[in-house]
Amino acid sequence: MQMTCTREEAAALTREGLASIAFATSDLIPPILEGFKRFIQKPEEERRRWSFDYATEGDPDTGYLPRTGQEAPDGTYDDKITFHYRIEELLGRLLYNRVDLSREELEWFDYLHMLSERCIFNAYRLLKHLDDLGCHSDFWLRAHPDRGLHEHMIRLIAYRKPPTDNLGQIARMHRDRGSITFALYESHSGLEFTKLTGEKGGREDEFENPTNWYGVSSLPDQPKVFTGLKGEELLQIPASWHRVMKRDDQPQGILRLSVVFFFHIPGAEVTKPTH
Ligand SMILES: [Fe+2]
Repeated sequence: MQMTCTREEAAALTREGLASIAFATSDLIPPILEGFKRFIQKPEEERRRWSFDYATEGDPDTGYLPRTGQEAPDGTYDDKITFHYRIEELLGRLLYNRVDLSREELEWFDYLHMLSERCIFNAYRLLKHLDDLGCHSDFWLRAHPDRGLHEHMIRLIAYRKPPTDNLGQIARMHRDRGSITFALYESHSGLEFTKLTGEKGGREDEFENPTNWYGVSSLPDQPKVFTGLKGEELLQIPASWHRVMKRDDQPQGILRLSVVFFFHIPGAEVTKPTH
């Protein structure tokens, strides 16, 4: 995102999935993916020991998320392997669960930790930038070591057997629930955005019209940045509708890998339901 654009221009670029923020990721993504592929190779029984429930939410939200093969509440198909890394969170839970970590796995955590720190720092840099453009939210001032670092999360996704719904979507159109999302890496094309905003209800034709969607890809070291529903509430930037389409460059049986970072704006609660 250029420092010279206005707040409205920045908001439009962000909403349309066209904004990116420059920082180094390409040195960390390859070893993170290698570690993820090794994790995927583990037997399901062992993977389950890396799965942790947040009691209040009732679903595993740290580590490995067992797939159900069902449609998830956010409208996406749960036919993929998902792994959540939360800084200061996962390692302690694994130790408590008496999971022994190999040297390779500890190194994998080092890389995930470094990527988390870079993402968190640059998310605050982005908030500072938005403030400078006239947002005046002062959210960036809320950076404090005591404030829920574990709320930020790196999500690794391996789509294994893309379903064939009538629109060709691997991940159905949705808006993220959180504040700010960085699309850090996609192994294949297929990520799409739209200029459409607001609720879909009653506008299904509009949302299902392929001409309203366009492909977006992240260049190395320039993650795409966009807002979720909480970000819409806090930053007044409409949350971005997006989806992932099956593409011919992903042959059947080949994993489609993606790396996403979700930034939580601390100390700010949104009360309205997000779904
Ligand atoms: Fe998303």
